[in-house]
Order: sequence, then structure tokens, then C-alpha cells
Amino acid sequence: MIHLTSFLTGCLALLSPTLASPLETRGPPKKAVTYLGTQGPILSSGAVAKGLVYTSGTVPSLNGTIVVGGIKNETRQVIENIGLILEEAGTSWKYVLKTTVFLANMSDYTAMNEVYRDLLPNPKPARSAIQVGKLPGNFLIEIEAIAAIPEI
Ligand SMILES: *[C@@H]1O[C@H](CO)[C@@H](O)[C@H](O)[C@H]1NC(C)=O
Ligand SMILES: *[C@@H]1O[C@H](CO)[C@@H](O)[C@H](O)[C@H]1NC(C)=O
Ligand SMILES: *[C@@H]1O[C@H](CO)[C@@H](O)[C@H](O)[C@H]1NC(C)=O
Repeated sequence: MIHLTSFLTGCLALLSPTLASPLETRGPPKKAVTYLGTQGPILSSGAVAKGLVYTSGTVPSLNGTIVVGGIKNETRQVIENIGLILEEAGTSWKYVLKTTVFLANMSDYTAMNEVYRDLLPNPKPARSAIQVGKLPGNFLIEIEAIAAIPEI
């Protein structure tokens, strides 16, 4: 292992003299990088994450029943449901790094986005929104989220 390391370092030095020395002198990064870049509430403010929580795809159910009222109401309910999961895990929407929004119909995007924009804190997490062929129940939206658990 030691031989391999010094062999590789030697190769690097041979390949590029400018590569070898920064590798040795570089300390811990001054600013950690997240999906949110420098705008993130988590690492740009110096807080430390002690873990991550991945939610399952969360559906617009309340007490086991899908809510009525269309895409806006369903979006609100999903966001509230994820909020409860995050709270239980010791975090909140404020620390969400990434969401994936699954829509049964991309025509619902604008209405979904209005609710999403109003309910989620800024800066918004990175997001993908896709229309899926079919969701497994009689609902229009499902969202999954990845959040950091802040060390408070
Ligand atoms: C859902 O369940 C909770 C607790 O059992 C109850 O307080 C609440 O009224 C119920 N909500 C609806 C809309 O059924
Ligand atoms: C929206 O969903 C809630 C439950 O979260 C329900 O009480 C309410 O009646 C629904 N609103 C509409 C307009 O259907
Ligand atoms: C999606 O919604 C649009 C507008 O309401 C509707 O015309 C279209 O048929 C829907 N597509 C599907 C696959 O349900």
C-alpha cells in the first residue's frame, strides 16, 4: 500500500509538478460545498450536518385518505406530510437539499409550483420535476426529499 502510494505520488510528480504540491499542502476545505452551492442555508452559514434523511415518495394522504381539491391541495398536503417526517427525523424543510416531484400530469406543473414556491423556505432546494406514466394510487403528485439533519 505504501509502495503503491509513493509510486502514484511519483507518477503525479512526473506528470505534473504543479499537481503534487497543492495536494500535499491543501488542508480541509474552507467552505464545504453542497447541492445548494454558496446559497445553501446549511453550510454557508457554518452549521454542521450530522446526517441525512431520505424520505420515501410521499403522497397527499391525510389519515389514510387522499385529500380532495385537486393539484394545489394535494401539493400542500404532500409538503405538510414531508414536514412531519422531517420533524420526526430532527430536521425541517429549511434543510432540504434536494426534492424530486413526480406528477401524474405535467399540465399541473404551474399550479404545483405556486404552492411549492409559497410553502418552501428560500433558498429552494435543488429540484427535479417529472411526469411519470402512472402513480400507484388515485393521486396527482408524489414528492421525495433529501434533507440534512443539522447539528444544533
Ligand atoms: C386525522 O386524525 C387526527 C388524529 O387522529 C384527527 O385529530 C384529525 O381530526 C383527523 N383529520 C381528518 C381530516 O380526518
Ligand atoms: C384540502 O384538503 C384538506 C385536507 O388537508 C381538506 O380539509 C379540504 O377540504 C381540501 N380543500 C378542498 C378545496 O378540497
Ligand atoms: C393532463 O391535463 C391536461 C389539462 O387538464 C389534459 O388535457 C390532459 O388530457 C391530461 N393528460 C393526461 C394524460 O391525463
